[in-house]
Amino acid sequence: MTADVNTIRQRLAAYGQEHVLRWWHELDEARRACLLEQLESIDLDLLCRLCQEAPASFPSGRVEPAPVTRLADSFEAWQEAEEAADLGETSLRGGEVAILMVAGGQGTRLGHAGPKGTFPIGPVTQRSLFQIHCQKVLALSRRYQQPLPLCIMTSPDNDAATREFFAEHNNFGLEPGQVRFFVQGTMPVVDAKSKKLLLADKGQLALSPNGHGGVVEALARAGLMDQLRSQGVRRFFYFQVDNPLVKVADPVFLGQHLKRRAEMSLKVVAKTVPEERLGVVVRRDDRLHVIEYSDLPEEWARRRDRSGRLQFWAGSIAIHVFELEFLDRLARTSALPYHRALKCVPYVNERGELVRPTQANAIKFERFVFDALPLAERALVLETDRRQEFEPLKNPSGENSPDTVRQALSNLYADWLQAAGTIVPLTPTGDSLFPIEIAPLFACDAEELRGKRGVPAKVTGPLVLE
Ligand code: UD1
Repeated sequence: MTADVNTIRQRLAAYGQEHVLRWWHELDEARRACLLEQLESIDLDLLCRLCQEAPASFPSGRVEPAPVTRLADSFEAWQEAEEAADLGETSLRGGEVAILMVAGGQGTRLGHAGPKGTFPIGPVTQRSLFQIHCQKVLALSRRYQQPLPLCIMTSPDNDAATREFFAEHNNFGLEPGQVRFFVQGTMPVVDAKSKKLLLADKGQLALSPNGHGGVVEALARAGLMDQLRSQGVRRFFYFQVDNPLVKVADPVFLGQHLKRRAEMSLKVVAKTVPEERLGVVVRRDDRLHVIEYSDLPEEWARRRDRSGRLQFWAGSIAIHVFELEFLDRLARTSALPYHRALKCVPYVNERGELVRPTQANAIKFERFVFDALPLAERALVLETDRRQEFEPLKNPSGENSPDTVRQALSNLYADWLQAAGTIVPLTPTGDSLFPIEIAPLFACDAEELRGKRGVPAKVTGPLVLE
C-alpha cells in the first residue's frame, strides 16, 4: 500500500531530502502518485551511506598480473581445448545454459535514435546488432537441438523500444517464450556538492540506470533465476550488446569453466596500448579483480615487463560465464558495490526552472558486473584472439566505431572463408578488401562454413552468404 505523504515527508526530513516535495501543492493526483511511488522505492539509507563513503580507489594490497589460461599454442593445449569443447557442448545439449545479453544502452553516443542493439552494423546488409546476436542463438539452438533461453536486460529508457523492435522482426525467428526481457533498476542522482536528490521535473526524481551490475538483482526480481533453475538451467553465458563478434555460447569457454569448477569465468585479450579503454584483470591478495580503465593509475597502465610487454595486459572484453547459483547468492546478499560517476544531469532548481549544466554537476551510482569476480570461490580467466572475438561499437568515428566494427566483421568472415579454401583479397595490413557478411544461420563458425555448399572459390566483390 502507498504510504501517505506525511510519512514520506518525515522519512525524507530524517535524511535532509524533504526539498523534493517542494512542488507537491502544484502537482495533480496522477503526478503525486508517481512521485510517491518513486520516493517509496528508493533506499535512503543506502543512498546516504554511498554519499558519505569515500569514493572507491585503486585497490591497495599486493597487486600483480592475474594468472591467465593463454591461447592454445601447443598440441597439449589444443587437445585440452578439444576436451573442453566436448564438455561445453554436453552442457548446451542438456539445456543447462541460458544466454544473457545486457542491452541497457541507447545509441545516442553513436548519433542513432533508439536502443544501441538496433544499430545497423552488418558490413553488407546492415543487419542490426540484435539481429546478429539473435540469429546466432537461433543457429545454436538448432545445432544443439535445445532452444537456448535468451535473457535480455533493457533499461527503463529503452525497454519499450526494444520490445517493439523484436515484435516488428518477429523475434528474429526465435520462439516467443525463448526471449525474456527484463528491465534493470535505477538509482537516484544526487547533486555532487550538496548530495541532495535532484528532480528531473517538479514531480519526478532524476534517476539513472544502475549499471550492468544491476543485472544480478534484476534477474532475481523478474523471477528469472527461479524459472530458469526449474527448467534445468545451471549457468549463464553473458555478453554486451555492443560486440557483434562474440562467440555466443562458446563451448570451449564453457568447458574450461566447467573443468575448473569455476563460479565465474571471463575472457581477456592482450591490450594493444596502455591507454586502451579496457578493464584490466589483476590478482590482489589471492583474489582476482577487474580494475576499470578509469581507475588504473597511468603509471601502472604503462608498466612493462623485461620482454617489453605490458605488465597489466589482460583486458576484459566483458564476456563471462556465471553459475546461476553464484548469481543467486550475489542477488540475495546484494553483494556488488556501487561506483560513482560524475556526470552532467539536467535538473529543476529551487525556483522551479530547468537547468541544463555544461559541466559535471551530479553523481550517478552504478554497479559493475565484473565486481563479482573477487566474490567467486573459483574463477577462470581465458585469453582469446581479438580478431576472432572482439570489436565493440562505442564511438561514432575513430576507434570502436561503425567503420572499425564492419571491417572487423569482414575480416572475421574472410578468415573463415580462407580456412574453407576460398581466395580472399586482403590489404597489406591484413584487412579484407571487400565487405563480407556470413549470416549466422548460414554458418556460425569456420568449421561449419567448411562443410557448406555455396561457398565461392574466390571473393571478387562485396559478398553475403545467407
Ligand atoms: C565496458 C567495461 C570495460 C570493458 C569494456 C569492453 C564497464 C564499466 N566497463 O566499458 O571494463 O573492458 O566494456 O567492451 O562496463 N549497460 C547496461 N546498463 C547500464 C550500463 C551499461 O545494460 O546501466 C550495457 C550497455 O548496453 C553496453 C555495456 O553494458 O552494452 C557496456 O557499457 P559501457 O558503458 O559502454 O562500458 P564501456 O565504458 O565501454
